[in-house]
Amino acid sequence: MAIDTQDDGGVRIIRINRPDKKNALTQAMYRQMTAALQEADASEEIGAVLLTGTAGVFTAGNDLSDFLGEGEGGDLSAAMDLLRCAASIDLPLVAAVEGPAIGIGTTILLHCDFSFAAPDALFKAPFIDLAVCPEGASSLLLERRIGAQAARAMLMLGEGLSAERAAACGLLSAVSGDPQARALETAKALAAKPRMAMRETKSLLRSPERAEVLAAIDREAAQFERLMKTPAAQAIFAKFLTRS
Ligand code: COA
Repeated sequence: MAIDTQDDGGVRIIRINRPDKKNALTQAMYRQMTAALQEADASEEIGAVLLTGTAGVFTAGNDLSDFLGEGEGGDLSAAMDLLRCAASIDLPLVAAVEGPAIGIGTTILLHCDFSFAAPDALFKAPFIDLAVCPEGASSLLLERRIGAQAARAMLMLGEGLSAERAAACGLLSAVSGDPQARALETAKALAAKPRMAMRETKSLLRSPERAEVLAAIDREAAQFERLMKTPAAQAIFAKFLTRS
C-alpha cells in the first residue's frame, strides 16, 4: 500500500509511503487519500487528520508518468477530487513535512489548518518549469498566504522556499526538529475539542473564500489539462523520466 492509514487518539493519520519514488503520487494513491479523508470526515471517532510522508520526503508531487499519458492516460480527475475534498472538508487538517514537498505537496498545504516542517523541508511549485500552470487553487491562495512577491517567485520563476522562509512568510505554522510529533500533538489537541463547534469554526473560517477556492481549482485544472498535453510539456516529462 503506498498510502497507509492509522487512527491514533481521535486522529486519522494518512501517510504517503512510496519512498523509492520519493512518494510521487499516482491516481490510485489520490483515490486512497480521498477515501481516507471522506471516511474520517464521516466518523464520529475522528476529530482531525494528520497528513504526512516518510522520513526525509513528503512528496515529489504527481507521478510524472501519469502526465506522460502512460498509466491512466493523463487523467487529472483523482488529483482534483483530492484537492476539492481537502478544500471542502470541515475536519481539521494538519500536515507534517520532511524533505521535498513538490507540486501538490506544496499546494495541498494551502488547504491544511496547521503545517509543521523539518528544517530540511523544501517547498516548490515548479509548474512553470514543467510547461504547465498552477493547481490546487495556488494561483489564488499562495498570493493570499505568502504575499504577491513570494508567490510570483514560486509560480513564475519556479523558485523553492526553505522551511525557514516558509514559516516566516506564513505557509507553515512552525519549523520543528520533530514535525511528526509536533503535528500529532496539534492534531490530538484539535480532536479533543468539542466536535460540532470545531467543525462549525472551521466552516466559518473557510466560508468567505470556499466558493472562490473551488472555482480556482476547476479553472486551473482545465488549463493544466490543456498545457500538459502540449509537446513542450510532454518533452519535459519524458526527459525527467528517462534521465540516467
Ligand atoms: N514522478 C515519477 N517519478 C518520480 C518523481 C515524480 N514526480 N519524482 C521522483 N521520481 C522517481 C525518480 O524517477 C527516481 O526513480 P528511479 O530510482 O526509478 O530512477 C526516484 O523517484 C528517485 O528520484 P531522484 O530524482 O533520483 O531523487 P532525488 O533525491 O535526486 O530528487 C526530487 C528528489 C523530488 C527533487 C526529484 O525527484 C524531482 O525533482 N522530482 C520531480 C518533481 C516534480 O517535478 N514533480 C511534479 C510536480 S507537478
